Amino acid sequence: MLFWRVKPLDKILETAEKKALKRQLGPIQLTLLGIGAVIGTGIFVLTAEAGQKAGPGMMVAFVIAAIVCGLAALAYSEIASMIPVSGSAYTYSYGVFGELVAWIVGWALGLEYGIGAATVCVGWSGYVNGLLKNTDLFGLVQPGALALPAALQAGPMSGGVFNLLAFLIAFVVTVLLIIGTSKSAKVNAVLVAIKIIALTAFIAIAVPAAKSENFHPFLPTGWVGANGMGVLGAAASIFFAYVGFDAVSTAAEETKNPNRNIPIGLIGSLVVCTIFYLLVGYGAVGSVGSQPMFGPNGVALDPGSPAQAAACVGSNALVCSKEPLAHVLRVIGWPGAGKWIGIAAGLALPSVILMMMFGQTRIFFTMSRDGLLPDVLSKVHPKFHTPHVITILTGIVVAGCAALLPVGKLADTSNSGTLLAFAMVSIGVLVLRKTQPNRARPFRMPLPWIICPLAALGCVILFTNLSSFALKFFVGWGIAGLILYALYGSKRSHLARENAQ
Ligand code: ALA
Repeated sequence: MLFWRVKPLDKILETAEKKALKRQLGPIQLTLLGIGAVIGTGIFVLTAEAGQKAGPGMMVAFVIAAIVCGLAALAYSEIASMIPVSGSAYTYSYGVFGELVAWIVGWALGLEYGIGAATVCVGWSGYVNGLLKNTDLFGLVQPGALALPAALQAGPMSGGVFNLLAFLIAFVVTVLLIIGTSKSAKVNAVLVAIKIIALTAFIAIAVPAAKSENFHPFLPTGWVGANGMGVLGAAASIFFAYVGFDAVSTAAEETKNPNRNIPIGLIGSLVVCTIFYLLVGYGAVGSVGSQPMFGPNGVALDPGSPAQAAACVGSNALVCSKEPLAHVLRVIGWPGAGKWIGIAAGLALPSVILMMMFGQTRIFFTMSRDGLLPDVLSKVHPKFHTPHVITILTGIVVAGCAALLPVGKLADTSNSGTLLAFAMVSIGVLVLRKTQPNRARPFRMPLPWIICPLAALGCVILFTNLSSFALKFFVGWGIAGLILYALYGSKRSHLARENAQ
C-alpha cells in the first residue's frame, strides 16, 4: 500500500521538460528568492511568542530550529537537484513513495503554505496596527486617533473579535494573484533589501543596549513543558521563521543550471537568515528582556490564549507585543527607528504572503492536474491565465483563519505540515539512494545515512513539541484529507487510470 502507484521519475522529468518554463534564475537571484520567502513574521513577530515559551532560552530555540532546517535543506538540495521540477515535496514523494504518501504530503503542504500565509497576514496586521496607533500623521492628528477599535485589531483568542487588517491583506493578495501578479525578481530584490536594512538597523541599535541581567533566568520554563512550552516548544514555533527556503526548490524549473544553483540558493539563504536571527534574538532579549508572563498557579501562560491576552492588558512586556521589534526600539529610546521598522515590515511582509499563497495554489493546482483533486481547481482564467478557482478558495480559507486565529497558533499549525514534508523528503533521499543508486545526483549530500535520519528525527521532536491546538488541527486536517483521497483521488488519479489501461 505504501509504495503504491509510484510515478516514474523519468516521467516526472519528461513532463517538466515538455512544459519548459524559461530558465532565467541564477544563484544570486535564487538566494534572494529564498531570503525573500524566509524573512517575515517569524523574526518580526514570533520572537514575542518564543519569549513567552522559553524566555531568553529562545536564542537556543533559534539554533535548534536552524539545525533541523539545515539538515533538511541538505536533503532538499539533493532531491531538488535530482528532480528539478515544480511541486516541491509533493512531486518528490510521488516519484519516491507513490500516490498515497504524495497525497498526504501535498495535503500537508496545504497547511504549510495556506496556514503559513494566514500567519504572515496576522503578523503584518500587528505592525500596521502598531503604526496606526503610534502615528500622528506628521502632526495632523492626535497620536492614536487613527487606531482601529480594539475589537478589530485581533481575533477572539487574543482579546479582540475580528482581525480586520489581516483579513483585508489576505483579500488584496488574493486579488493580486488572480490578476496574475507573481514573483517579480526585481521587486523581490528591493523587498529583500528593505528587510535586510531593517534587521541590520535593529541589530546595530539593540545589540549594544544588551545587559547581562536580562539573560537571567536563562531557562525560566525549562527545556520541555506541557502544551508546547519550554525551549523545544519555542523551537517548534520559531521554526516558522526559517520556513520558505524550500520555495527555492519550487523554482527549479525556472533556474539556470539547477544542479549547481539550487543547493547554493537553499543553503545560502538559510545561512544568511540564521546569522540575522541570532543577532536579532540577542538584541531583543538583551536590551529589554523577554521573561514570560506567569499565571496565578506559577505556570507560564499559553501564548495566544485568552488568559495571556488578559494578563497582557496594559503590560509593556516584550512577550505581549504584537510588533516586538518596533516595541524594543521604542522601549530603549529609539521611537523613530521603531516606526521605520514598522514601515519596513508593513512593506515587506505582503510579499511573503504572496509567495506562500502562490505556493499553496500551485501545489493544489498540480494535484488537480494529476487527477487527485477535482479538475475545476486547475481551471485557468481565460483573461488572466491564472488558476483563479483554487486561488479564490485559498483566499477564503486564508482570510478566515487570519481574521480569527492568533499568530502563534497559526504558525504552529503551519509548522506541523512543514515538518511532515521535511521528514518525508529526508527519508525520500535515503529511499532513492537504495532504489536508484545510479541516477545522476548533481548535488550529493554528505553523510546521508547520518544526516537524513537526524533531520527526520529533528522534525519528529519539533512536531511533538507543537502546541496542542496545532496537533489537533493537524489530525483533523489529516482525517479530512484521507477521506477526500478515499472518496475522490484514489479513483480519479490519472496515474490510476493510465495503469488500468
Ligand atoms: N519564514 C517566513 C516567515 O517568517 C514564512 O514569515
